[in-house]
Amino acid sequence: MLLGAPGSGKGTQGPRLAERLGVPYLSTGDLLRAEAAAGTELGARVAPYLEDGELVPDDLTLEVVDRALADASAAGGFVLDGFPRTVPQADRVGDVDVVLHLALSDDVARQRLAARDEGRADDADPEVIEHRLRVYHGQTAPLLDHYDRRGTLVTVDADRAPAEVAAELDAALDAVTHRTAG
Ligand code: AP5
Repeated sequence: MLLGAPGSGKGTQGPRLAERLGVPYLSTGDLLRAEAAAGTELGARVAPYLEDGELVPDDLTLEVVDRALADASAAGGFVLDGFPRTVPQADRVGDVDVVLHLALSDDVARQRLAARDEGRADDADPEVIEHRLRVYHGQTAPLLDHYDRRGTLVTVDADRAPAEVAAELDAALDAVTHRTAG
């Protein structure tokens, strides 16, 4: 599971990690954006939260991601990006092998999000970027303690070149694989 502030590199590192492990990559942000873009009734309920940088309420999020989570579990494992983001969501997921925390200062996160040019509504307005950072610190960062207490948290300095971050994530995963195997 990848845990980190907006802009910390979850979406950059996640697909590569999943490919390396041979498991599905699941990004709740991607799933929620796809639902909103599809213009379904559910998507229409989700879209305003995405635009405002607010967390989508847990019941709506679960409606969108439950099926993908179940499929990924059936596949024997997965890399999770952006989920869980609240303690109730963490309870829904249960135990995970390792939580990779991509640690990044808010200043660098702001710069990365403002520079990204992928047409995401939640990157366009500096106020929405600020709100996403506040939401992260208020609602998601408490999960760091939650997983630290369970001994599954590994923190990686995300303020380095993507290849350097990738190498450290790979090393952390290898250590966990050895521990699990041993
Ligand atoms: P989500 O899609 O998860 O977005 P986020 O957490 O805001 O994170 P980002 O995708 O912006 O950043 P990232 O950490 O993936 O970094 P990235 O690799 O893209 O969530 C969006 C919204 O969906 C939420 O606000 C919420 O509304 C909703 N949502 C999602 N999950 C939810 C849940 N579980 N419950 C409720 N609501 C939920 O990189 C960012 C930029 O930096 C890119 O341009 C990249 O090229 C660049 N970059 C990456 N790494 C580096 C590096 N090492 N050096 C320099 N640049 C880098």
